[in-house]
Amino acid sequence: MAEEITLARLLRAVAPLGPQMSISAVADRLLTSEYKSFLSLPIVDQDERPLGLVSRYGLQDIFMQRFGRDLWGRRPVLDVMNPTPLLVSLELDLEEAARQITSQLRYPITEDFILVDGDGRYRGLGTVLDLLKAMDDRIAQRNQVLRRALVELKESQAQLVQSEKMASLGQMVAGVAHELNTPLGYVRNNVQLINELSEPLLRLAASQAELADCLNDPACDEQRLSDAFEKAAEQRRQAAPEALADDLDQLFADTLYGLGQIGELVAGLKDFSRLDRALSEEVDLNDCIRSALLIASNSLRDKARVIQQLGELPRIACAPSQINQVLLNLFTNAAQAMDSYGQIKVKSWADAEALFISVQDSGRGMPAEVRERIFDPFFTTKPVGQGTGLGLSISFKIIQDHGGSIRVASEVGRGTRFLIRLPRSRATELKRSA
Ligand SMILES: Nc1ncnc2c1ncn2[C@@H]1O[C@H](COP(=O)(O)OP(=O)(O)OP(=O)(O)O)[C@@H](O)[C@H]1O
Ligand SMILES: [Mg+2]
Repeated sequence: MAEEITLARLLRAVAPLGPQMSISAVADRLLTSEYKSFLSLPIVDQDERPLGLVSRYGLQDIFMQRFGRDLWGRRPVLDVMNPTPLLVSLELDLEEAARQITSQLRYPITEDFILVDGDGRYRGLGTVLDLLKAMDDRIAQRNQVLRRALVELKESQAQLVQSEKMASLGQMVAGVAHELNTPLGYVRNNVQLINELSEPLLRLAASQAELADCLNDPACDEQRLSDAFEKAAEQRRQAAPEALADDLDQLFADTLYGLGQIGELVAGLKDFSRLDRALSEEVDLNDCIRSALLIASNSLRDKARVIQQLGELPRIACAPSQINQVLLNLFTNAAQAMDSYGQIKVKSWADAEALFISVQDSGRGMPAEVRERIFDPFFTTKPVGQGTGLGLSISFKIIQDHGGSIRVASEVGRGTRFLIRLPRSRATELKRSA
């Protein structure tokens, strides 16, 4: 950081005058180039205590009078000085000094101010111009510090949003991995079964090929032919292809169904994340609801029955991955609010101006002092390590960026309802919160 500007840095070490010095001598000194930037010169006693200031303009007035120099020139400067000059203690900080000086300043500015030490002894002169410039520099310095702080704040906010995103992504991946396991398990079983069932079929095929070879071969004798017949008949009994046909049909159908489910989950995952797709596309919010429910189904299953009442919605421009993140957080919060198996009702509808999504749970609800703070970043009632308290604050920001609103109603012991309203045409431009 740049060095802090202090009053001491404004000090100009101007040699003070004695009170008996003649006015002419003072005038001559003011004319030398060394003093050209000063409006006045200080006068001190033997103990270096300031007595006054003699100003360039005061002297000018005197000398412009007829015979001014002859009449006044030899008199002591004491006679024409300002005996109540502006004294400023060097111990003051710059702002306080500036306040004192500007409050006592007379216009036009004709004098400098005297800087004194803690004992009131003369230390030097300060000019108003230097002071103004120092204040200006200081404001610029502060602005720079503020700008840097703002950049840092924005960065850490972006990091928070990112980490919440990663957390919900992790949650989602865990949920989907769990969901994939079920169809994967029975697809694997079915394939093993098909493999086992096809072994006798393959043996039957081999024995029938042997029989056919024998029949085609003139050199094949009675005995070999009868053995081949016998073997083929035995294999046919073992394989029982008529009975297998139904089983195989069923197994193939189940396997295909399982693969279909896996495909659906993977597609849902792709739909859900869409992290690198365009921020804004025309989306059916019911798809977002379904996709978020699918992803959350693992954490919802033992907690609550989900009732969907999804009305017809017009497509709207939004960032689907962000809306999904909001919905996933609402569903997860609802599941986590259940003390016993409960119910979560998800509704969607639209009117002329806006689309609405309501998520209502029969969980434990919240007292007013919790409800008032739920959108604050880091507010959580969950144990350390379970909640970051960022879910709703990020949800709030996402909905706000979409020009919408999110409201909550809750009653202890009865449940909670979140209502999201998204305008059909966004009032504000979508901002990139990632
Ligand atoms: N459906 C709900 N029922 C009861 N309380 C809720 C509900 N949703 C949110 N809350 C309360 O609001 C708090 C803040 O929720 P938020 O989603 O912001 O953070 P979190 O769920 O605690 O943590 P995170 O979402 O980061 O895992 C929760 O700790 C909880 O006390
Ligand atoms: Mg949460």
